Amino acid sequence: MKVTSLGHAGLKVETKADTILIDPWLSPEGAFLASWFQYPDNHHLMTPSLLDVTAIAISHEHLDHIDPWFLAQVPPETTIIIPRYPSPVLKQKVIATGLNKIIEVPQWEVVEVGEGISVFFVSEDSPMNHDSAVVIIGDGEILLNLNDARLSVAQLRSIRTKVGGVIDLLALQGAGASWYPMCYDYPQERQKELSQRKRMAKFSYIERAIAAVEPITATPCAGPPCFLDPELTWVNAQMSEGIFPDQQQVVDWLEKKDVKNMVILLPGDSFDVTEKKKEADPIWHDFSFSDRDSYIQNYAEAKTSQIAALKARYPEPTESLWETFRDYFQSLLLMSPYFNGKIGMRVGFDIQGVGGGKWAVDFRPGLEGVFQEMGECSYGYRFSSRWLPPLLSGELPWEDFFLSLRFQAWRNPDIYNDHLLGLLKFACQESLKSVENYENSMDSQERIAIHSEGQTYLIQRYCPHGGVDLLEVGEVLPGGIIRCLGHHYEFDLKTGKCLNGKCKFLDSKRI
Ligand code: FES
Repeated sequence: MKVTSLGHAGLKVETKADTILIDPWLSPEGAFLASWFQYPDNHHLMTPSLLDVTAIAISHEHLDHIDPWFLAQVPPETTIIIPRYPSPVLKQKVIATGLNKIIEVPQWEVVEVGEGISVFFVSEDSPMNHDSAVVIIGDGEILLNLNDARLSVAQLRSIRTKVGGVIDLLALQGAGASWYPMCYDYPQERQKELSQRKRMAKFSYIERAIAAVEPITATPCAGPPCFLDPELTWVNAQMSEGIFPDQQQVVDWLEKKDVKNMVILLPGDSFDVTEKKKEADPIWHDFSFSDRDSYIQNYAEAKTSQIAALKARYPEPTESLWETFRDYFQSLLLMSPYFNGKIGMRVGFDIQGVGGGKWAVDFRPGLEGVFQEMGECSYGYRFSSRWLPPLLSGELPWEDFFLSLRFQAWRNPDIYNDHLLGLLKFACQESLKSVENYENSMDSQERIAIHSEGQTYLIQRYCPHGGVDLLEVGEVLPGGIIRCLGHHYEFDLKTGKCLNGKCKFLDSKRI
């Protein structure tokens, strides 16, 4: 098997008889409103031969993984393989590109794609998170591509068992795919501290993943992006010490932890899995991650016209957007009383520019409504009015917009509310119901003992947020706190209260 990097999370997997692409992202306009660009640039790989493949596997609906520009160019008879999620969003995005030979696969189900090559997906447990690992079995060798999926250790072990015990190549993500904390109005020092904490959390996850998978070789992929719009170039500082470490930094950190079997693949570099040998694309002869600033400066100059063209497609509105905003949120409020209750707060929208205003949506049970004045809000978004019409029409999904980083947010108290994002991104009763059912079905009966500061607590074994096993990923912190490394919610062991998120109580009893 030969694996070639297509840049970012994109991989080309070749066996003796077949070729599969995974998550190819080559759009010259980047993704998420021309905010994210491939780093380093991968445009030299966009040749006719790249379109001549057996199949394309797409892991999830984020636009740095499903690239409508690329898919619009592949022959219509190309097979597209996607995981089955409760929400139809990913399938709809594929269909919108004009491709309709889609195989939607339940997780763990193996699909034979060609002679001696097959694929299966493993998704994160909670239906709130649509992220899946992609496993390719080709000519008897195994690629496990985790991309953005944060699988539990138990899932990683099950993958190993399913494929016979040996993972030849593990592709994993060292950079985040998030707008937190950069888009929140934290003071500078706090911003820095949170960015570093998130970076370290990601690093410790990939260290645990490598320990669980014990791959023969591992490679960092799926990020980081770079930001070329002058309005967003400040985000590139996240590469130095925030959530977007580059591949070299990921490898350097892992090597300090004694992980030695890493290989960096730049776009066009290949790795012969059988021979365990890298073949470098000569285009990168003079490239170095340490020359990032000058590389990005030249790259940004080359992309000026694409960024301007994107913005021209979203002109400022000419009239008030209030009525459309009100109608949109009034129907959203009718979707799921469960989600409204979980959100349980008033959310402000400070829409700046022509047609905008300071409005609010109240999700609190009994107080639900859409209001033309902001009032006292516990959470808020601020962004330009040019982005609101495509958000309200559904042309621009909320999560894609948040990933563009073209907004600011504030919250008080400072706790994460993933049901708010869940409602905005799914906006579909079936998907919301599947999250509700999942959350209500989590088994909280099994108990484990946790020792903290001279005390012992019996707590529920599975995290009340996403159900991951706290025996594996519970980190005891000073002050009688346990942090779940699933999504970094922290719980007070004395009271069970979630300290940084809007989450059910952790069942905890001192003994
Ligand atoms: S599973 Fe999400 S914080 Fe525990």
